[in-house]
Amino acid sequence: MTHPAPHRFGLVGWLYASRCALPAAWAQRAVDAIVEQSIARNASMNVTGALLFTGSRFVQFLEGPAESLAALRRNVLADRRHHHIVTFLSGGRAERVFSNWSLAYAGPSLFVADKVENLLHTGVKNTAEMIDLLEQFVMISEAKNS
Ligand SMILES: Cc1cc2nc3c(=O)[nH]c(=O)nc-3n(C[C@H](O)[C@H](O)[C@H](O)COP(=O)(O)O)c2cc1C
Repeated sequence: MTHPAPHRFGLVGWLYASRCALPAAWAQRAVDAIVEQSIARNASMNVTGALLFTGSRFVQFLEGPAESLAALRRNVLADRRHHHIVTFLSGGRAERVFSNWSLAYAGPSLFVADKVENLLHTGVKNTAEMIDLLEQFVMISEAKNS
């Protein structure tokens, strides 16, 4: 059986990490506002994904139609609330990872921060590993909040 190229359906993904530029005292509140706004906006653009915030770093994976992702990516890259944005993965995807979330969110915990720092320091060789990690953190976070 042959599989059609993912680009035929225009589904693309973008995985990046960045450093938070917000003063520590406001960061959490500002990130909560970003998440709230993004949930509605991503849904309206048929974008899904996950955001991880460690207190000092962001890791985000976004997936959706190529046109939506291009517009969103331009916005996110120009957003001065973070800097040192490093792209790990960008391109066609066969299927969505976070199909149930327009933006799943995992907030700071020591465990998450350590894991992310370790991964970023050793270099992200396997982007699937990073997406798996995001998925795990989101699950833990959702379980804690329910
Ligand atoms: C770490 C981070 C993640 C963000 N994620 C999203 C997102 O998933 N969806 C979204 O619409 N905006 C997201 N934003 C906000 C965008 O950068 C931008 O502010 C938003 O799209 C509104 O743009 P506008 O004010 O030019 O309309 C994020 C911002 C930051 C700093």
